[in-house]
Amino acid sequence: KIRIAILISGRGSNMRSLVTACTAADFPATVALVLSNREDAAGLTYAREAGVRAIAVPHKSCGKDRETHERAVNEALTASGIEFVCLAGYMRLLTPWFTNAWAGRMINIHPSLLPLFPGTHTHERALEAGVRIHGCTVHHVTAGMDEGPIIAQAAVPVFPSTDTPDVLAARVLAQEHVLYPAALRHILTGMTPECAGMAENSLIVV
Ligand code: GAR
Repeated sequence: KIRIAILISGRGSNMRSLVTACTAADFPATVALVLSNREDAAGLTYAREAGVRAIAVPHKSCGKDRETHERAVNEALTASGIEFVCLAGYMRLLTPWFTNAWAGRMINIHPSLLPLFPGTHTHERALEAGVRIHGCTVHHVTAGMDEGPIIAQAAVPVFPSTDTPDVLAARVLAQEHVLYPAALRHILTGMTPECAGMAENSLIVV
């Protein structure tokens, strides 16, 4: 199995879906490390309870220089023999030094149909823009924020008269939890997953 690290900053629900997927015997990855840039990330507690090694590498202890923090993160990844990195709600901009070091071996999930709505507050912005289809994207990580090549997307309907950003976020999040493990399996094995097609209330294409 390929040794993956999952980088988080908070709740870690996508991390949980990956940890669960990795427990299946035929899944090509094992979660060797969960790493957070915040010591108080709720996801760390969950990971430890699930028996996964989970550490914090706080960015606050590394001063203002992003690369100093990233070098500390990179050391932790190397020390755990990490071969592949999944960003899951890791709310730090990455420098080209880090993205180059992990080029082709690092993916991210983003709560919009990229290239629409890179950055934050994606559900609010989708509602403001009046789109009728929204969703999430798993993509390779490059130096440009939310810009790397797209691996997989899941689409959900928007119901403009009743959706609030929170309601829409929950609809998208449920699909994130399906999409991320499917996309990871796809990228690690080159297998075309069976999940392409219609699921309840969504369209998933890997
Ligand atoms: C998820 O919706 C993820 O797509 C998003 O943060 C949330 C983290 O939730 N990521 C980004 O916005 C990255 N640009 P989680 O901690 O429960 O997985």
